[in-house]
Amino acid sequence: AYSFFEDLRKNQPIHALSEQNGNTTWIVTQYEDVLKLLKQPSFIKDQSKLFSNAQSDDDPMEAKIFQNMMLDADPPDHRRLRKLVQPHFNPKTIKQLEPRIQDIADELIFQMSEKREDIDLINDFAFPLPIIVISELLGVPIEDRDKFRQWSNTIVSAADGEEGDFTRDIGEFIDYLKELFAERERNPQEDLISNLLQTRDEGDLLNDEELYSMIVLLIIAGHETTVNLIGNGMLALFEHPDQLNLLKEDLSLTEQAIEESLRYYSPVDFSTARWAEDDLELHDQTIKRGDLVLGSISSANRDDKQFHHAEVFDIQRKPNPHIAFGYGIHFCLGAPLARLEAKIAFKSLLTAFPNISLNQMSKPEWRQVFLLRGLNQLKVNL
Ligand code: HEM
Repeated sequence: AYSFFEDLRKNQPIHALSEQNGNTTWIVTQYEDVLKLLKQPSFIKDQSKLFSNAQSDDDPMEAKIFQNMMLDADPPDHRRLRKLVQPHFNPKTIKQLEPRIQDIADELIFQMSEKREDIDLINDFAFPLPIIVISELLGVPIEDRDKFRQWSNTIVSAADGEEGDFTRDIGEFIDYLKELFAERERNPQEDLISNLLQTRDEGDLLNDEELYSMIVLLIIAGHETTVNLIGNGMLALFEHPDQLNLLKEDLSLTEQAIEESLRYYSPVDFSTARWAEDDLELHDQTIKRGDLVLGSISSANRDDKQFHHAEVFDIQRKPNPHIAFGYGIHFCLGAPLARLEAKIAFKSLLTAFPNISLNQMSKPEWRQVFLLRGLNQLKVNL
């Protein structure tokens, strides 16, 4: 994929991916263009402003949860929705979770050292860590994590056009949340779900559909991203033993190593869809009103015009203005949490297992999911 992007950056910086009903889907690959796309208020998220048939009040809840997410909203709705959850994800609030995240990491490390053999860093560590953290923060029961894994996987695979049992799974997900919300109404806790339920009940800041959308978005974001940062970052270190040794000798480089992992193997490959509100010209092409534009974050983060020796994995890279968490008003809400989890993960792993190395008997496997870059498995020797 990286050589494909390199080719596009050089030869076709705006590339027509497909055509449907007279509208084109474009991808842009140069850093400057992706940044422009993310910054521009004229690239909008809410399709209903462009297409009268984009949504209707009669749509089932299965469709509505995807129409009411902050990630797909424009101001002023976006601002209102984000403000409701922002205080829970500020760096200062997140910092208070540090001892709890450390405990979870320590417990997983203990289980790995007991198991010793056949360790898969994804399943045994990188996946459960962020899931436990986001589940506790939201207030969803951790025992049900296999269900969340399946639902979340169904949703992200749908972007690939795999119909599968999409409707059934989303229906189950909604029914599950309905019951959970009812239980939490009767018995409020100190968690984000209870807090948002109260907001919904109090007035006009959050309606029922937006509540479901918010929780689904946070569960998906919490399931599909940080696992990739931990997995991809450890893989990049294994592939660059000099950098791994450098980090082991000086763990104060951990935060920089994480930023470089975010740049080098960006966990989210593409920005989510943005639609052109007006016609505009880019690199001699006309993007028409209603065209869909995707920015390749992975490509932008490997653009030589922006990063010196962009193809080199250098944990001491400075400055490192990668856009792995996006840019502008939709900049990742969970960035402080992901950064803290990754810092604890890298430090704890390298301290507990200073000789950790790739298991040469089994190749790391990339997941085949459009938009995301992550590993199915990463077998290691401790
Ligand atoms: C938005 C990446 C972790 C919640 C985004 C966007 C990116 C991103 C690129 C912007 C998408 C766009 O503009 O099209 C990542 C990466 C993560 C990560 C690389 C981990 C390494 C998380 C976590 C959470 C989260 C742990 C929540 C618990 C969100 C939300 C948005 C978002 C709610 C939408 C924000 C808005 O629309 O204002 N993320 N994310 N992310 N992320 Fe993350």
